[in-house]
Amino acid sequence: MDNAQLTARIKELKAKKNALIVAHNYQVPEVQDVADFTGDSLELSRKAATAKEDIIVFCGVKFMAETAKILSPGKKVLIPRPDAGCQMADCISVADMDEYKKKYPGAAMVGYVNTTAAVKTRLDYCVTSANAVDIVKKIPEKQVVFVPDRNLGMWVQKHVPEKELILHTGRCYVHHKFKKEDVLNARAAHPEAKILAHPECLPEVLELADEVASTAGMLKYVKTSPAREFILGTEEGHIHRMKKERPDAVFYSLGNAQVCFNMKLTGLGHVLNSLEKEVTEIILDAETIERARKPIERMIAM
Ligand code: 13P
Ligand code: SF4
Repeated sequence: MDNAQLTARIKELKAKKNALIVAHNYQVPEVQDVADFTGDSLELSRKAATAKEDIIVFCGVKFMAETAKILSPGKKVLIPRPDAGCQMADCISVADMDEYKKKYPGAAMVGYVNTTAAVKTRLDYCVTSANAVDIVKKIPEKQVVFVPDRNLGMWVQKHVPEKELILHTGRCYVHHKFKKEDVLNARAAHPEAKILAHPECLPEVLELADEVASTAGMLKYVKTSPAREFILGTEEGHIHRMKKERPDAVFYSLGNAQVCFNMKLTGLGHVLNSLEKEVTEIILDAETIERARKPIERMIAM
């Protein structure tokens, strides 16, 4: 089957089974195009939680599908590629969290949404790249253990100097590759362009960017900006989504286009297989769901 045939079959089956397909902004173009909704990691889970459909096909990486399951325990959440992990999310374990708690008993445990469901059971607050600064500002504890992304943690520390952040050593291998020289070269090559960087980038990149934002924040910025050229310091898949929102604008990658291999594992064939066989279902035990839900709900409430 070619892409058009696969897309037609997916749409037919989706309607028949009352399923919703959501795709992260980094997914391959054809998967983004077949999805009912594309967005950033938290937007997708929130969408899944409020959806009327009984089955959610989550095209993204595993921690995102787990977050959707935590927020919609009554639904069947399927991930077409269960092997799609996130190196950053996988770099911290429950044992590491328990160690931090022992060492800093009075600190608030704050974790990026890029964490496994098991690690979320140890968090007081969950944050996303879009709200990390605001949430850390608002929490009462002065000392904060922040996991797993060090670059995002440093960005938060810079904006919330009144708190003491204890940072883990995690990083996103995709965003960590952008360097200061890439920003300087991009500015010289496209002086009219706005430079947008994801907070998972190095501080030297964030300092020079015009805007630091999550993938959803970048979209918001681009939709309302009078600029016609944009340079994106994030995974290259986001350009497809951006072009849809601003067909009149030109988009460039910051330096060499960077790819998250796990985000590219899912193809239309996998989406169809997932819908047909209802695989692979995200299964989490009730206790994990209950405990992991609390830090996410606290974040949403804030
Ligand atoms: P967003 O929440 O900004 O979509 O980012 C998710 C992610 O994995 C970034 O690398
Ligand atoms: Fe994880 Fe980075 Fe890929 Fe996002 S881009 S899923 S943080 S490895």
